[in-house]
Amino acid sequence: MLRILFLALCGLLTHTRADPGALLRLGLDIMNREVQSAMDESHILEQMAAEAGKKQPGMKPIKGITNLKVKDVQLPVITLSFLPGVGIFQCVSTGMTITGKSFIGGNMEIIVVLNITATNRLLQDEKTGLPTFKSEGCEVILVSVKTNLPSNMLPKVVNKFLDSTLHKVLPSLMCPAIDAVLVYVNRKWANLNAPMPVGQMGIVKYVLTSMPTTTANYLQVAFSPVVQQQEGNTIQLADAGEALEFPEGYAEGSSQLLLSATFLTTGLALLQKSFNVTIQDMKIGKLPPQTTKTLAGFIPKVAKAYPKPKPLVTQIRINKPPKVTMKTGKSLLHLHGSLEMFAARRRGKAPVSLFLLETHFNLKIQYSVREDRLLMLTSLDRLLSLSRESSSIGAFSEKELTGFITDYLQEAYVPVVNDVLQVGFPLPDLLDIDYNLAELDIVENALVLVLDLKLD
Ligand SMILES: *[C@@H]1O[C@H](CO)[C@@H](O)[C@H](O)[C@H]1NC(C)=O
Ligand SMILES: *[C@@H]1O[C@H](CO)[C@@H](O)[C@H](O)[C@H]1NC(C)=O
Repeated sequence: MLRILFLALCGLLTHTRADPGALLRLGLDIMNREVQSAMDESHILEQMAAEAGKKQPGMKPIKGITNLKVKDVQLPVITLSFLPGVGIFQCVSTGMTITGKSFIGGNMEIIVVLNITATNRLLQDEKTGLPTFKSEGCEVILVSVKTNLPSNMLPKVVNKFLDSTLHKVLPSLMCPAIDAVLVYVNRKWANLNAPMPVGQMGIVKYVLTSMPTTTANYLQVAFSPVVQQQEGNTIQLADAGEALEFPEGYAEGSSQLLLSATFLTTGLALLQKSFNVTIQDMKIGKLPPQTTKTLAGFIPKVAKAYPKPKPLVTQIRINKPPKVTMKTGKSLLHLHGSLEMFAARRRGKAPVSLFLLETHFNLKIQYSVREDRLLMLTSLDRLLSLSRESSSIGAFSEKELTGFITDYLQEAYVPVVNDVLQVGFPLPDLLDIDYNLAELDIVENALVLVLDLKLD
């Protein structure tokens, strides 16, 4: 009984965590491109033309006209607009030529221009839970009709033809095209729930918080991402406490992906292991040789204990989950842990600890996107604290080491962190979004990737 209650409570808790870790606003540009490419991929026009060329059940022959054919279905122009709370209104403007032989032996041509309109309602697929568009209320509107028939046959014959044939036949001919195109658009949500690897350490899954919503300017998708270690443990997202908000003023039609600092923090927890390192190179970057002699320049006592220079070995252990913070224009990675320096001894003998310092330092993060992954490149921002926990060479003031440790972290440790971060952070996979051209914007508690297709 208690167990059931506990499970029920857990269920409640996970479902009531309202603040999503990531938010995506899909603007009209991306939806236009999606529908256009679905149109191309589905080869819908060729199919429509082929279908139109067939004998149609409702297509009554026109008196005196034989060999009726549909040809030259025109490249459609698609116009979309958002319908708040519903989905997307779609208008496909196209045209076609209907040919035949008239009884006087001449070639007849009727050129029709038409609009096919429908409402693409955004729903949740019952089976997959993924968003899906379903068309409703498809209509065919004749925009213009031109013909080369002799004017004395007009308008009677053409009108009759239009009335009895086009109005009846076109919707059943054209409306399935809208559905066929939506099948292709809907397929592009399919990978949304797929787990995406973060190196070998675990996965990120972009789970929908709720059904996407539509406003007059965008379609909004909220995610409660799941971060899981390779062994299957889920790392809970800390509650950021603040609602995520998009800044105002992005270009009309553009799309934005917002990733909360909390979510990035959770994702980086997967990599925490790799931030514990032992460095034993003598020569590191621009640093002087890593020996007890160099160290003695900062703490003279070292020279007494080691009259003959010994190579240094440094162990850095990160003992709190790394934390990402963001303030407008600046993002930091906070690391807390210990730094222990050893003097190496001859082969086979364990190095001797010189001292252990507790430390807190910040790395500045620069974000970029490569191959649809978010990359982070860090550099040392500040060494915030240094306190001596133990020492085998006697007491000394940590302050003497500030410069030495600062340089050491930048030259020796930051490259290690950058190497670990190279795995990149996966971004939501939907609608073939190409994040590589995104502009990045650091705002309060979040990173925004701005996609403006007009700038492509
Ligand atoms: C047909 O569609 C085009 C593009 O959306 C629009 O400009 C035009 O007004 C429509 N015509 C009719 C008759 O609905
Ligand atoms: C990294 O070091 C910290 C602090 O000693 C320790 O708690 C943690 O278990 C270490 N992680 C790994 C993977 O060794």
